[in-house]
Amino acid sequence: MNKILAPMEQTAKKVTALPDAQTVTEVTHWTDRLFSFRVTRPNSLRFRSGEFVMIGLLKDDGKPLLRAYSIASPSWDEELEFYSIKVQDGPLTSRLQHIQPGDEIILRPKPVGTLVHDALLPGKRLWFFATGTGIAPFASLIRDPQTFEDYDQVILTHTCREVAELEYGRQLVDHVRTDEMMAELLGEDNLKKLVYYPTTTREESPKMGRITDLLKDGTVFKDLDIPPMTRETDRAMVCGSMGLNTDLKEILEGFGLTEGANSEPAEYVVEKAFVG
Ligand code: A2P
Repeated sequence: MNKILAPMEQTAKKVTALPDAQTVTEVTHWTDRLFSFRVTRPNSLRFRSGEFVMIGLLKDDGKPLLRAYSIASPSWDEELEFYSIKVQDGPLTSRLQHIQPGDEIILRPKPVGTLVHDALLPGKRLWFFATGTGIAPFASLIRDPQTFEDYDQVILTHTCREVAELEYGRQLVDHVRTDEMMAELLGEDNLKKLVYYPTTTREESPKMGRITDLLKDGTVFKDLDIPPMTRETDRAMVCGSMGLNTDLKEILEGFGLTEGANSEPAEYVVEKAFVG
């Protein structure tokens, strides 16, 4: 196997000498802006679904270049999955997008994050609001049995510019709904609790518009035939661009929800999706 760190440069250094090297096992390119990949999981790594870790590559000067990435795989998975944007002049993703099975990346095994069940008070309905690669922590959480044990309904919304950018999430939801192992793990009845609400903003699709607008004018509630959010019943996790996070916070606060944290659980939590 070709154990190089930066696949673009044949002279690149190996990271095998570093304790935090993990081997890439699979890479999928979804669009020219999006890809996902799987890596080996350190034996010692325990994490809560929804958390992130620092991953990256070695720079030419031998120093690590690391960024926060949500773990997209569930905590029971034997490998780790990540979902990433490709930025052509981005310091990390301009190189990371070229990784191939057998290559190594650096992974600091110290998971943290607020998009975890522990940061929310008990409720009836759980919303996952994602834009772009912000779906990653929810890809983990919708494969976690606790998500369905704790709530009567789980609603995943995903807003992207174009239809092709929804594909990772669409296939994931499809897999969760149809895979036998998933049904066994999550419970066949529990899977009926999962609602998927994809929208696009710049290409024609069955549901168009920013999720923020669709919440504000009540379209989401009408489409899903459910009552508007209340502090008593609804809990939410938000992961997207800075703009989405700020706008959704205001909307959720408008419904009476307050922001929670690991140390002080409440009704919603927010995290910025990695860009660059
Ligand atoms: P829009 O096309 O109207 O900007 P990006 O690819 O820029 O990260 O955006 C991903 C998706 O998030 C796009 O559909 C984009 O819509 C949407 N988006 C960006 N900013 C906001 C915001 N402040 N509130 C809601 N949706 C947003």
